[in-house]
Order: sequence, then C-alpha cells, then structure tokens
Amino acid sequence: MTTPKNIYWCDGSDKEYDQLTQQMVKSGMLVPLSSQLRPNSYWAHSDPQDVARVEERTFICSIEQRDAGPTNNWCDPGEMRNELTGLFNGSMKGRTMYVVPFSMGPLGSPIAHIGVQLTDSPYVAANMKIMTRMGQPVLDILGQSGYFVPCLHSVGAPLDDALEDTSWPCNPTNKYIVHFPETREIWSYGSGYGGNALLGKKCFALRIASVMAHDDGWLAEHMLILKLTSPQGSVRYITGAFPSACGKTNLSMLTPTIKGWKIETVGEDICWMKFDNEGYLRAINPEAGYFGVAPGTNGKTNLNAMRTLWGNCIFTNTALTDERDVWWEGMSDDPPSHLIDWKNNDWTPAASTPAAHPNARFTAPACQNPVIAPEWEDPKGVPISAILFGGRRSTTVPLVYQAFNWTHGVFLGSTMGSETTAAAAGQVGQLRRDPFAMLPFCGYNMADYFNHWLSIGERGHAEKLPKIFSVNWFRKNQEGKWLWPGYGENSRVLKWVFERCDNTAEAVETPIGLIPNAQSLGISEIGIQEEDAKELLKVDAKEWDTEIELISRHYERFGDLLPYQLDNELAELKKRIDSI
Ligand code: OXD
Ligand code: MN
Repeated sequence: MTTPKNIYWCDGSDKEYDQLTQQMVKSGMLVPLSSQLRPNSYWAHSDPQDVARVEERTFICSIEQRDAGPTNNWCDPGEMRNELTGLFNGSMKGRTMYVVPFSMGPLGSPIAHIGVQLTDSPYVAANMKIMTRMGQPVLDILGQSGYFVPCLHSVGAPLDDALEDTSWPCNPTNKYIVHFPETREIWSYGSGYGGNALLGKKCFALRIASVMAHDDGWLAEHMLILKLTSPQGSVRYITGAFPSACGKTNLSMLTPTIKGWKIETVGEDICWMKFDNEGYLRAINPEAGYFGVAPGTNGKTNLNAMRTLWGNCIFTNTALTDERDVWWEGMSDDPPSHLIDWKNNDWTPAASTPAAHPNARFTAPACQNPVIAPEWEDPKGVPISAILFGGRRSTTVPLVYQAFNWTHGVFLGSTMGSETTAAAAGQVGQLRRDPFAMLPFCGYNMADYFNHWLSIGERGHAEKLPKIFSVNWFRKNQEGKWLWPGYGENSRVLKWVFERCDNTAEAVETPIGLIPNAQSLGISEIGIQEEDAKELLKVDAKEWDTEIELISRHYERFGDLLPYQLDNELAELKKRIDSI
C-alpha cells in the first residue's frame, strides 16, 4: 500500500544504530555532538509545524461513538479507514520502510506486550531503539504466531524522484493520530515528532493499552514509579499520576533532603499494573528510555537527569552550542553568547525568542540514570504500596492528604485538575480537569475508565490495595508566592506517605481526607513560618464550595454514565464541607 523503495527489518543492534545515525548525519537530519562533551549523541531540529503532540488530530475510532466518550475525538472507523488508506497509498514512495518490532516492558515479562511499527522515518527507528526493547529478540519471542499490536506510521512526505528530501520530512498541514480500539491498531500519519510518531509510548502504552487493561482487568496509567527506602532499609514502591509539566520526571529521580532516605527510579512516565497471585498490584515501566522535556532541567531541578544525559542521547529542538553541545533555557543561569537555535538560525541572548523550543526533548537510555532501581527491569514488576494523584493548584488543595478508602481515592483521581503551563498551547494558569492525568491518553470512554478503577478496588483486598493520596506542590499564599519549596523537600511528603503505609504516622481527619500535621512533615526544620504551614495544609470551606461546584460541572460531561459511587462521593464531600 505505501510503496516504499526498500524494506528494512530492524535487528536492534548497536551496529544498526550506528548505521542509522550515520545515514541521518549524511542526510542532514542529525548533527553529531562533540565526542568529548556528549559522546555518541546527536542533535535534531524539527519542522516548526511539527513540534508537539497534536491532541486535536488524535482520534479514537471505536465502532460506537459512545465508547470513545466525551473527552476524545471520534470518527467512524470505516470512514477513517477509507481516509487513511487514501493517505497511506504511496505515502512511503522513495523512502525505506523500517520494520520495528518492539516490546513494551521487559522481554518476556507476563506484564509486557509487543508491537510492530512500520515507519518511513529512520529518526523514529533510532528513537525506538532507545525508548523500547527493539529488534530481533522481540521477533524471537513472537515466533510465527505471537500476538502484536500493529502500528503503521508515515511522515506523509512521499519522495518523487526529482524531489530533494528535507532535513525533517513531515506533512505540516495534514496529521492523523488514529487508534482503532476494537482491532487494537494504530495508524499515524504526517508527523515525525515524539508521541505522534514513537508509537510505543502514548498511542500503545496508554491509549491502546488502557483498552486492553479495561478488558483484561489491569491498569495502564500515566504514572511514574519510584522506590523509596527508609533509613532502616525497608522499601515501598509508589506510583504517581501527574499531568505533563508537573514534575513527574523530577520526582521519580529526586535526591531527598531528609537524612537516610533514598529514592530510586523504576519509571518516570508510564506504569502498567497487574494483580499478582497473592492479590498485590505489581507495576512495570513499559519503556526503556526517557523522552523528557529539556527546558528547565538543570543540576538543581534534576541533577540525576543531567547525569543521565552524559552521552548516547538524541536531542530534538534544543539549541546547539559553538562547541557542538546542547543548551536549553534553564540549563544554566547565563546563556552562551552564541547558539544555533532550534530553528537552525544564529541566536544571541539579545534575541526575543527562546533558543530551545519549550517542548524540546531528550531521548535517553533509562539504564544511564544513576539512581535507577536495580529491579527496574524485573519481569514480575514491583508491588505498589501507594498511589499519588497530583496537579498544579495555586489554591484549595493542600500539600498532601490521604483518601479514606479506594472508592474515595478513585474520586480524587477522577476530579484531578491542573493549571495549564506555558509548555502547552492556550492560556496559562487556566484550571483544566485532567482525570488521572489521562485526559489526552485514555483510549475509551472516561466514565467506563472510572468504573474500571472502581472494579479494581472491588477485586482487591483493602489491606493489599495501594493507599491513595492527593499531593499539590504548587499552593500559593495571598501574595502569590509558593508556600512549599518543592524538589528535594518533596521527600518529606513521601516519608509521610511511606509511614502511613506502615501505620506509623499520625493523620488528622478533615472533610476532604486525612492530613498530616506540620510536625510530622518537619516543616519548621526548613524555615516555613507557622502561618504559611497552616495555609499549606488548610481546608478552607469557601474554597471547597467553589471546588465542589467545579467538580459538579466536570462530572456533567459524563451524563448518566458517571458511576453512581462518584456522585455519592461528591454528595458526601459536600455534606462534610457544609458541616464546618
Ligand atoms: C509526555 C507527555 O511526553 O505527557 O510524556 O506529553
Ligand atoms: Mn507523559
């Protein structure tokens, strides 16, 4: 159908990676970085019209529109198939089609799943080598009859004989990121960037996997997974769902400020959880690499990420220095006096535009993370003790509180909100509801997804299920200043979570949930005044009246499909707030 000039089967070897990258250096798609400063690493800059995930061009083509739900774009699957067949016809003309077999999750893990992506982008093939377990070993597992999710991808820029290729081929004006949940297929057309094109990540590991998880009784989530070790050496694994640009990567690699505690990374973006034979939820990170936002990353915000990036990386839409290294806003206090910006133009600090695109990314092997947990590739996964739901909220939501039980925890997940940041298009600071941080990633009706979470609670035993917490690092005081220092100090909150799991920490019951007192967080040790400490943990009836109103409006989107348990939770919350 796509009529490529050649077909190449990726074996996933280092030799193949070298050939792919060398070929892209020749074609101008990659610039090799200094072998002294950033060995075996490359810089790419994309077409300015292909810089981020395109949510408005992302479709869930279920047979029934009802099954895509009110939060997804839907199109009739037959119509969409016709449209795409037309577009893919001859779309790879003059290009090589790469066959990319990949495993999401450790090879052979009972929690892992396999996909095969056909792509006409060598950049995608090279990134998939870093982001997934890719190549021959996956084909060996598949054999003649193994199951895989088919993923078809084209940059949508056929090369006619006379046509010169561009350094970032794509279709600037016609993009489709399409999921067929019933047949579990992914078709992506027109973009070569990130989640639009590396189909193992958002398309498979979240949208299609969320459907598989719903049908088969597990969870595919937009969550980090971290390992927390106490000074006594006991270990708890914690997952956390936070919308984009709320610090998931930073939290998963955190250097604790409290003595004797240790944090190690299992995953920083996606988490698949299944019940084991004993009834515990076990999690794996389905990815093998990090596709992280570069701007804002530095030795203070995330030293371990900076250390991860020492070499073997691909940088996309950062700036390039005169020494052939990369730079981005926030990497250092003072920018270099001259750079090549992400649009491949000369740049000086006098310029009015940033040198790196706000969504500039690094692709880095997870195994280079200096604080990777040794068991991060354990095929059995790690047992989860606690789940955090977080967002960026300048008012209303306290630093941390614990849900009364699983159903109340699902209520917290379903009502998550976050104020939008400059990293995403649209107005900054607008409160957007992003249930479970899955708004752009749930492959089916979000109301059915809430029900699925409730049913996981019914299947599990209360004492074996993870405890659920809400966290908010971003509350501000009356003057608009952040009340909490964040970063390493977040370890104080994790310690309380850990101790709640061990039943060794105190909690105060409030109308919204169980809250720590300032002493158990050691707040005075970090110089936070009593006034601010109170504000940080306050439950304000007026603010919660407004919040309840906003949650009602958010729930209206789901109509009759909203699980009655969540309606009940909202009504109970209202009663408890009214009584203070
Ligand atoms: C990501 C995202 O790239 O959430 O991880 O957008
Ligand atoms: Mn993400």
